[in-house]
Amino acid sequence: MTHYTLGEPSAIGVPTVLTARLVLRAWCAADVDPYAAMNGDADTMRYLDGTFGRDSTERLVTHLIGMWPLRGHGMWALQDRTTGEFLGRAGLYFGPGWPGVEVAVSVRRDRWRQGLGTEAATAAVAWGFDHLDVDRIITFTNRHNAGMQGIARALGMTFIGEADKIGPWADNFVYEVTRDAWASRDSGDQVSHQAGSERS
Ligand SMILES: CC(C)(COP(=O)(O)OP(=O)(O)OC[C@H]1O[C@@H](n2cnc3c(N)ncnc32)[C@H](O)[C@@H]1OP(=O)(O)O)[C@@H](O)C(=O)NCCC(=O)NCCS
Repeated sequence: MTHYTLGEPSAIGVPTVLTARLVLRAWCAADVDPYAAMNGDADTMRYLDGTFGRDSTERLVTHLIGMWPLRGHGMWALQDRTTGEFLGRAGLYFGPGWPGVEVAVSVRRDRWRQGLGTEAATAAVAWGFDHLDVDRIITFTNRHNAGMQGIARALGMTFIGEADKIGPWADNFVYEVTRDAWASRDSGDQVSHQAGSERS
């Protein structure tokens, strides 16, 4: 005997975004192991408060998925467009005390310095200005994190100052790009947004 009736399902579609070499897509269970491998790597986690394991990675993934219905934006899983491999995560994040919507990126270490971080961040910022009611997108990173600062530079972001503490993160350099500056930048970036969506 059935003791309930079903109402309308509720769901949010996480957009799938394509760049020249990447797919930015919704997270799936198969991402947890390769993401845990990244989170267990000391070089990758140097400026992200140290390494952690699979259980914490799974909790983090559920948090990142949850940001989509909560905020209407979030972090995507990064997939190699050719091979389908998991290559990291990128997207837009806003936490308590954040000075603005942040673009954030992590790339699998064996694929650093190939422009993939910039490619993913560019797509995330473009999507953000297309879909969110924000005047600027920021990024912040530890003052010693040359890689993320390189991405900020490649995106044409402006250094706007230092912040001792943003959420759990200490000793930050903060950058921004305004909607107007983004619109006027000369860009040959190839980003397309797929009509299809996936579950959150
Ligand atoms: C930061 C990170 C995402 C950079 O990704 P990436 O794919 O290697 O970056 P790119 O290849 O697009 O490089 C962007 C710019 O930064 C420079 N750069 C990248 N890594 C660098 C490093 N370790 N030292 C100095 N410069 C670096 C590149 O030369 C490039 O500069 P250019 O445009 O003048 O040529 C990657 O190092 C990473 O995942 N780090 C660990 C996680 C992390 O700290 N994420 C940032 C906080 S959210």
